Amino acid sequence: MRRLFLLSAATLLSAAMSAQTVARMGNLKPEQKSMAISLKLTGELSTDRNGDYRQMRDLCFQVRTIDLGEAQSTEIPKNAFHSRHQIENITLPKVLKTIGTQAFFACDKLQAITIPATVENIGAAAFSGCKSISQLTIEGTPTIGEYAFARLAGLKTVTVLSKVPPKAAITAFDGVEPGSVKLIVPKGSEKAYRKAAGWSRFYTAQKWAWEVSDPTQCLVPMPQEMSLMKRAKALNVKTAWNVYAKQGDGEKLANEVEQARNMLSERIGNIVNSRQRGIEMVLSLDPTLDDDEAYTIDVDANGVSIKGKTARGVFWGLMTLDQILLGSGTKPCVDAIPHLTIKDAPRTHVRELMVDPARTFIPLEELKAFIPEMARYKLNALHLHLVDDQAWRIEIKKYPQLTEQASSRWGQDDIQMPYKGYYTQEQMRDLVKYAARYHVEIVPEIEMPGHEVAAISVFPELTCHQRQVPIRTTCGVSNELLCPGNEFTYEFLGNVFKEIADIFPSKYIHLGGDEAGNPALNCWTDCPKCQALKKKLGITTTDRSDNWQLQGYLFDRVIELLRDTYHKTPMFWYETDFKKIQPGCVTFAWRHGLTNKALEAAVENNARIMLCPGEHCYFDYPMANGDMPEVNWGMPTTTLKATYSLDPAWGHDKKFEQNNLFGVAGTLWSECITSPERIYYQAYPRAIALAEAGWSQQENRSWESFIKRLGALANDMMRRGITFSMEY
Ligand code: ACM
Ligand code: ZN
Repeated sequence: MRRLFLLSAATLLSAAMSAQTVARMGNLKPEQKSMAISLKLTGELSTDRNGDYRQMRDLCFQVRTIDLGEAQSTEIPKNAFHSRHQIENITLPKVLKTIGTQAFFACDKLQAITIPATVENIGAAAFSGCKSISQLTIEGTPTIGEYAFARLAGLKTVTVLSKVPPKAAITAFDGVEPGSVKLIVPKGSEKAYRKAAGWSRFYTAQKWAWEVSDPTQCLVPMPQEMSLMKRAKALNVKTAWNVYAKQGDGEKLANEVEQARNMLSERIGNIVNSRQRGIEMVLSLDPTLDDDEAYTIDVDANGVSIKGKTARGVFWGLMTLDQILLGSGTKPCVDAIPHLTIKDAPRTHVRELMVDPARTFIPLEELKAFIPEMARYKLNALHLHLVDDQAWRIEIKKYPQLTEQASSRWGQDDIQMPYKGYYTQEQMRDLVKYAARYHVEIVPEIEMPGHEVAAISVFPELTCHQRQVPIRTTCGVSNELLCPGNEFTYEFLGNVFKEIADIFPSKYIHLGGDEAGNPALNCWTDCPKCQALKKKLGITTTDRSDNWQLQGYLFDRVIELLRDTYHKTPMFWYETDFKKIQPGCVTFAWRHGLTNKALEAAVENNARIMLCPGEHCYFDYPMANGDMPEVNWGMPTTTLKATYSLDPAWGHDKKFEQNNLFGVAGTLWSECITSPERIYYQAYPRAIALAEAGWSQQENRSWESFIKRLGALANDMMRRGITFSMEY
């Protein structure tokens, strides 16, 4: 038996190593797709939702070489190979005409690329971040889009066969310095290339027009009050900056001084920090400001002053200054900034993004990298969905089996690849510290009583029927719930939350609570322990409201523990039938179309509420038809405009805003997000729209103005190599 197995494994392996030559992806079996190392497609390729390109990208997770030379394909669609880090070689179709935006974004093992003579268009950021490409050959005269070949750190030679320089955006080769890359062009055409936009940077330093920042065109979120002194001579910023905290505030603002220096160095280059010359930038605390996050900025001939009620306010002031310095976004920094005063404070307290390492694990370093990007827009919380039916991702020392047995699985729906990994407690403490430097709070979530199959797979005694169930490898809602009638459930949750409360200093702990009983699942109906509990609690209904009461009992016990023992504020996803909101808790309005009901419940229960209605805030949904994720469980689209149009107060009055409105949240459930870069792609630019919805006063907001300001930020993101959806 063993020998037989070895033999078949060897056969499979050799099948994987030799090139799979087929007309189309449909000719391969699922396991051939997931095993393929080398692929050659010769047919007419489809760019449809689940066509050949999507299948190559999402299903062939090991493929290193792709030969499309003979394929009948005139278009490589947008995002075709987005962030496929394993691809080393690709031969493009001989009949190719168009390469879509971000088609090879961050394919960072790709060695060399030849753009066939037939290609007419190369989209924005098409090869951005392909840092292993050393040789690029362009056979024809394609129009080359913005940042198409930006950030190609390993580029050594570019060979262009055309005597006439292809039309290239100024930013097409962003990052190339004179002499750093050899440009080989036909004899006699060098002069033309020296003068051509996009190409001249191979010979001489890129010349940019002088730019004075216009903060009305680049700030998101829009500040509460801003006045520009346009008549005063703008402050030239390309000089030394002397950054320090006001006497007495040095200790409290040490991090902000360091962050300010880093930010300025990134924008301006090496800044000299001497008190003798340059721009004085003073950071200080101002207790007279009326919100912990409030800040002011003053720019005049003497320099820059940023004041905050707290260090966090000062830090948001820095983030505002950073956006003022990026100006139109096409170069790292403007040349001058106008004299101005800004007075700013947020409309809502918590502006968070939720990521889901349970469905697709997010390595710690990637999680960290996500934080500074959030902080740019004053998003102040990162909510980690740490467990679900598909995995348990956080080390619990009392129950090491959770991560040993339930942090690794094979496959998610049609994507057959390993999904594995977990965070140690030490890593999470490190993340918390790192995030604090950016004033982003880490909020952990442990789901109950549903979305707990990973834990149940390890401890079947957590459920009513004590059946061994495997962790889930598909989307959707499981019938397996924690048993509220079983004392072990409380012992387990108590032990888990004890460690969670210790790891995460955040005041908030999210308890899930979604989709456990809506529609009611009958899971608890024929459990003797649940029936005994119902009897004890005097629950006599049998119309499934009994399930909600059982869930209420479970929640009451855990909430009491978290509040009384660990002094935490519990949060949960609001379900309409749950009705009750325990004192001090924060609920999340998330269900599409049911926000009014959630708001009514919050007001009735005098509770605080986070706004994250699916129709505005679900960033795992595609931003447009055909956008990633093209294949999903039937998600609607959430357009950028829909996100922007969120009024966190949902049209309610100031009283609601003061008493109940807590914040806004954007969700990034990761059933269909299979690379760290794709988290950014789903998040941005919608997270920027959400940030303004959560921060800025309604009267200071307009879609037309937002779109203009976003243009500057989008340029800056492209220049920095951050991926985002361009479907707006
Ligand atoms: C959720 O989307 N299930 C909260
Ligand atoms: Zn039960």
